[in-house]
Amino acid sequence: MNELPLLSGRVALVSGGSRGIGRAIVLALAAEGADVGFSYRQDARAARETTTAVERLGRRALAVASDAAQPDEADALAQRVRTELGRIGIVVANAGVAGPSGWEAISASDWRATLETNLVGAYSLVRAARPHFSPSGGSVTLIASISGLLAHPAELTYSVAKSGMLGLARGLALALAPSVRVNAVAPGWVRTDMTAELHEANGPRERIRGGIPRGRWGEPDDVAAAVVFLASDMARFVTGETLVVDGGGSLRWTASDA
Ligand SMILES: NC(=O)c1ccc[n+]([C@@H]2O[C@H](COP(=O)([O-])OP(=O)(O)OC[C@H]3O[C@@H](n4cnc5c(N)ncnc54)[C@H](OP(=O)(O)O)[C@@H]3O)[C@@H](O)[C@H]2O)c1
Repeated sequence: MNELPLLSGRVALVSGGSRGIGRAIVLALAAEGADVGFSYRQDARAARETTTAVERLGRRALAVASDAAQPDEADALAQRVRTELGRIGIVVANAGVAGPSGWEAISASDWRATLETNLVGAYSLVRAARPHFSPSGGSVTLIASISGLLAHPAELTYSVAKSGMLGLARGLALALAPSVRVNAVAPGWVRTDMTAELHEANGPRERIRGGIPRGRWGEPDDVAAAVVFLASDMARFVTGETLVVDGGGSLRWTASDA
């Protein structure tokens, strides 16, 4: 018996979908039958590669240059996805940037830069998508971090932004109920460009790996699998939750490891 893919016929909107975790999410949603519109900030070549990979899976893709830190651009992004792909059933706020290191001398502009892309960007994306949601409802997933659950003074602005995203997921879960579910995913260490300095250096790579009970770094596909679950009807009664995807790393991670 042939079973339909989990997300057959749905339209998804993913921010920051050209590389890393975002690309894995775009491809996993497409592999489960969704057409996917995604944003990127500047790397048009990576965006084209992602588009081509989606089309190879037999789904439609739309790549839009759109800065997550600019709320007006989110409105135009959601409108284009609705016009070119159809009503939206899945939103994934993935675009994110790391903040400055340390906590003692963070400038106001550093705070703004981190909060505007990660936290305000996630809010703006959901607000922009709302008028274009499918009448049958849908799901929103915010990509936060275990940094938002635990103390992380070495990356304070990032940690605070990701904590804010967990609160945002809970607040929006009530605001958008009953038709739209809103959840957060909190990944641990994942091998992407964002963490390249750590996973490409022997010492930090092995120190981090040694702290992960599953015995390896996370891969973008590990996060994407959680997003597919939350977007699918398998998670039909799950809203306002945070799903940690870190191989067990936060079970014993302390601030002194940061
Ligand atoms: N890697 C980890 O260990 C880890 C752990 C926990 C959480 N996360 C979170 O997971 C998400 C993805 O991280 P990643 O590691 O995949 O990062 P990444 O490899 O640096 O990729 C970031 C992606 O987001 C896009 N992007 C960045 N800033 C943007 C903006 N202002 N507007 C639109 N798109 C933007 C990038 O597009 P361009 O290339 O065009 O700039 C790229 O597609 C982030 O929210 C991050 O905080 C990552």
